[in-house]
Amino acid sequence: MSSSPRRVPWVVKYRPKRIAEVVNQDEAKSKFVSWLKSWPNVKKKAALLYGPPGCGKTSLVEAAANEFGYDVLEMNASDFRRASDIERIAMRASRASTLFGKRGRIILLDEVDGISGREDVGGLEAVLRLVRNTNNPVVMTANDPWDPALRPLRGNAELIEFKRLSKRDVVRVLRRICEAENIICEDDALNYIAEKSEGDLRSAINDLEALAIGFRRVTLDVAKTLLRPRDREHNPFETLRNMFSAKYCWQAKISLSQSQLDYEQAMLWIHENLPNQYTDVEDLWRAYEALSRADVYLGRIVRSGDWDLLAYAVDLMTAGVAMAAQNNPRDKYRWTKYSFPQKLLLMARTRETRAVRDDLASIIASHLHVSTTTAKNDVIPLLKIIFTLNPKYAAKLALGLKLSEKMIEFLAGPNKTLVMRYLEELKRKQSEVARKAEEHYVPRKESGENAEEGSKVKHRATRKKGGGLLSYIGKSKQ
Ligand SMILES: Nc1ncnc2c1ncn2[C@@H]1O[C@H](COP(=O)(O)OP(=O)(O)OP(=O)(O)O)[C@@H](O)[C@H]1O
Ligand SMILES: [Mg+2]
Repeated sequence: MSSSPRRVPWVVKYRPKRIAEVVNQDEAKSKFVSWLKSWPNVKKKAALLYGPPGCGKTSLVEAAANEFGYDVLEMNASDFRRASDIERIAMRASRASTLFGKRGRIILLDEVDGISGREDVGGLEAVLRLVRNTNNPVVMTANDPWDPALRPLRGNAELIEFKRLSKRDVVRVLRRICEAENIICEDDALNYIAEKSEGDLRSAINDLEALAIGFRRVTLDVAKTLLRPRDREHNPFETLRNMFSAKYCWQAKISLSQSQLDYEQAMLWIHENLPNQYTDVEDLWRAYEALSRADVYLGRIVRSGDWDLLAYAVDLMTAGVAMAAQNNPRDKYRWTKYSFPQKLLLMARTRETRAVRDDLASIIASHLHVSTTTAKNDVIPLLKIIFTLNPKYAAKLALGLKLSEKMIEFLAGPNKTLVMRYLEELKRKQSEVARKAEEHYVPRKESGENAEEGSKVKHRATRKKGGGLLSYIGKSKQ
């Protein structure tokens, strides 16, 4: 083991240099390599490598680049929050490839699942533009690519799945490192480290290194004393599999505490996938019964703020559901393709509409001095009727309230074009009136009768602006 002060961490030192050194992942390797070799004659110019942490996604990209003579231009999710960053990098990448006559550059966007979410819409759009117009292979990585917000990216990328590494794979790599570093390590200790890592080779190598540096001899005792059990977060699919296949109640409960899902999301996932997992009607009834009781508790928590009830809700939705398969217990272990909750998909799809509705509600609320809830529940439905039945009047309202085109569309539906046409007409009239008012206005400076007359005309013009339809025009002019 090297003990120089500028030691390279083992995860870096033992990062695969060649594709063959990436353990397991044969399917992912061959899919990725054939995509990269065919580039740019490929259906999709980007690849999305997804899978659990520390299983070799970034390693494979770097090994392949090394083997095929590509440079890797790497960006992390946190770097591409701003659209301009992505464009700058992409430009630099394409210029560099022509300047140095290399085969090219791989643009590696690590952890793209970090850019989902509303505040990063600009970032996501820029990534999409890059993916569609790139001159270089774009490779993205993600742990969880199933976020609805990432759907456009998924559609534009070759999806390549990485599997969680098995305990055997992890032990194999650890043993190789021990040999290279001249470390004496008990097999049981390696097994223990591998087991704790749950297939995350990065964390296993880090654990091994930490133990080896301190003790040079890695024994099971030392490993057990020093390595805390790692609570890795499970994705929704793993959570469901662990929960349904739980043999004991405690296992089912743990599946939720180790999950990325909070209890509300978990409810939706379980609800959506119950009929996929259980086939027996009575088992299904039992499971839904438990789930609906959990829902009652959750409702009570919201109303009363009594969080002690959460324990009951969690027991019912996990253990209650897992123990429901009594007539057909083998269903618990059946491999099932889990699907994303429709409700969440729908919410994602209607996100934009809901945002328009909320903005509209706050405009109305501030004009009428009512709450946004009242605006949503009482005023918007009324406006919808007006916008459908009376487009002329609707146009006046739109002008007065300064509604955006999206808001008009939200209120008028198919009548939008008509309302927009009236609105344009109103705006034309508005500028005409403003122009005429200006023409009639004679500055005070001029002496004599004219000055008097001038100020009168001006006065009339402004007063005229004050009433009726023109009040809308006047307001929206500023
Ligand atoms: N399949 C593998 N074969 C060989 N080494 C691996 C493999 N997977 C991970 N490693 C080791 O673990 C370290 C981390 O792996 P890598 O960066 O490829 O993980 P990742 O899948 O990109 O994880 P993340 O999702 O967290 O980015 C690497 O430096 C390498 O040493
Ligand atoms: Mg990575």
